[in-house]
Amino acid sequence: MSSASEPLMTVSGLSSGYGPVTILRDIDISVAPGSVTALVGANGAGKTTLMKAIAGLLPAWSGAIRFDGKDITRVPTHERVGQGIVLVPEGRMVFTLLSVEQNLRLGAITPRARDNIGDRLEAMFKRFPRLQERRRQLAGSMSGGEQQMLAIGRGLMAKPRIVLLDEPTLGLAPIMVKQVFSVIEELKADGYTILLSEQNSRLALEAADHGYIIENGRVQLSGPGRELIDMPDVRRLYLGR
Ligand SMILES: Nc1ncnc2c1ncn2[C@@H]1O[C@H](COP(=O)(O)OP(=O)(O)OP(=O)(O)O)[C@@H](O)[C@H]1O
Ligand SMILES: [Mg+2]
Repeated sequence: MSSASEPLMTVSGLSSGYGPVTILRDIDISVAPGSVTALVGANGAGKTTLMKAIAGLLPAWSGAIRFDGKDITRVPTHERVGQGIVLVPEGRMVFTLLSVEQNLRLGAITPRARDNIGDRLEAMFKRFPRLQERRRQLAGSMSGGEQQMLAIGRGLMAKPRIVLLDEPTLGLAPIMVKQVFSVIEELKADGYTILLSEQNSRLALEAADHGYIIENGRVQLSGPGRELIDMPDVRRLYLGR
């Protein structure tokens, strides 16, 4: 087990990409246990690619990923999930033709998460009352915001030790964006460790203990979220003023 002073996860010197195309170049990030860590940056900066590499959906070409003191660089995706590395993917990817409850139950299919499913399902419905109301409804019939809550709930059912939350506010109305950020705050208060990627840079950095600004597959700047917000260059280039 890692102590509170050491990171739960570190990515060092990571490069990766698609086919012959390099996207991530020499990425260094670390995530402290119990923290919200934000990856912000424009469209196409490489945030999702980094999330996929951490989840094991893309191979590391060089560099290393360590989780809870262990090198997981070559560990396959399903084993990473088994260790509690859980991706809530961009675009939500709920099973539209299954019910809300079925989607949540599918989050709990790994050995790690198979115990007490009923109790944890009820806890999820308590956390997301809207999902309880829609328990038997097809996931595809819900709004984008509701589907995002479902995607997060499904991820939580996997008993994550780190939640990789990839662009959870993408395409959502402002009121739902606010709700997603209040869910993130609640999760942090409950002790979850979150790596969040967002184009909504200001909100993400406000919510984050630590932030990384990603540009062209590289970390351009990093620091405590609030400090980044106060930097004139960050305001001008990433926050629109
Ligand atoms: N499957 C793929 N094959 C080839 N190139 C890809 C693939 N997916 C993404 N890319 C490219 O990788 C780069 C980084 O994309 P990525 O999706 O990681 O960015 P992002 O920061 O998540 O952007 P967004 O905020 O739009 O989600 C882009 O140039 C994109 O075109
Ligand atoms: Mg993305």
